[in-house]
Amino acid sequence: MKSFTLQSTHITTFRRKLLLWYRTNGRDLPWRKTHDPYKILVSEIMLQQTQVDRVKEKYHSWLTRFPTVQDLAKTSPKAVLLEWSGLGYNRRALSLHTAAQQIVNDYNGIFPNTVEELMKLKGVGRYTASAIASFAFHKPTPIVDTNVKRVLGRMFLGYKTLARYIDTDEPFWVLKERILPKSKNAYDFNQGIMDFGAMTCTARQPKCGECPMQKICKSYPGILKADNELLRVKKKRKEPLYYGKPRRIWRGNILTLLKGVNTSLTVLYIGKHIQADWDATRTKWLKEILNTLEKDNMIDIQKKTDDNWLVRLPK
Ligand code: ADE
Repeated sequence: MKSFTLQSTHITTFRRKLLLWYRTNGRDLPWRKTHDPYKILVSEIMLQQTQVDRVKEKYHSWLTRFPTVQDLAKTSPKAVLLEWSGLGYNRRALSLHTAAQQIVNDYNGIFPNTVEELMKLKGVGRYTASAIASFAFHKPTPIVDTNVKRVLGRMFLGYKTLARYIDTDEPFWVLKERILPKSKNAYDFNQGIMDFGAMTCTARQPKCGECPMQKICKSYPGILKADNELLRVKKKRKEPLYYGKPRRIWRGNILTLLKGVNTSLTVLYIGKHIQADWDATRTKWLKEILNTLEKDNMIDIQKKTDDNWLVRLPK
């Protein structure tokens, strides 16, 4: 595995400056006012693939509806899907529901506090498990997401090297482990690096003029002239398109339709409502998508005959 050579004075400077930056610039986010692992799990699952501002609204309404892990565990998949409306990627909602049931049934309602145990929860990968260990249990655990990768990569490797390693994660976990302060500052450092990545060391047009780490940054000043391709550090997912949109968008549209009606719908009705130019030759395609949603427990299908399916949200 690749490991990177770092200058220890740069590490010390980076830590100090980042913590200082965070103390004056850090965002006042609701999930930073709690150490309740349930609330932190909810926020972190919502923050995967959804913007902070959108999550802020949903986070409050979710916790009003399901204030504790026990409340969430005993509710129905249908209620969970309905409360998730507007966030997209509905699979996350069902995983969160299953994770809540695991906590209640397998852990007596008490969250485990190690990354290893947390990763046994449905939908919880290394990133989310580490975020809970750090934010709820105050462990000096490294956390790596796209923001962290970008900030550390630019600062310590340079933006060109970062672009070469963008499809790998492991070296960045090692890098973060070495850079993370092992003191009570680990929490602020982990939160701070996310804000720094979201506000200053942004994916496009980074605000190097405002950056307190300019002097130690391996990307400065070349990054200011770098073209977008090199700055774009997101992995590119090649999703096949169906009638101009990837399948997950169609799946999302079907679920949004079902959430809006609270009744069963026929395949024909769904087809006509998700596509303005619907025609019957697309029935087979739509049924395939419906089958995938059923397999993921997101809908129930009553298959009366081949031509007559009734589709609704799960109970
Ligand atoms: N994105 C993921 N986790 C976050 C957090 N705790 N604060 C801000 N943005 C985040």
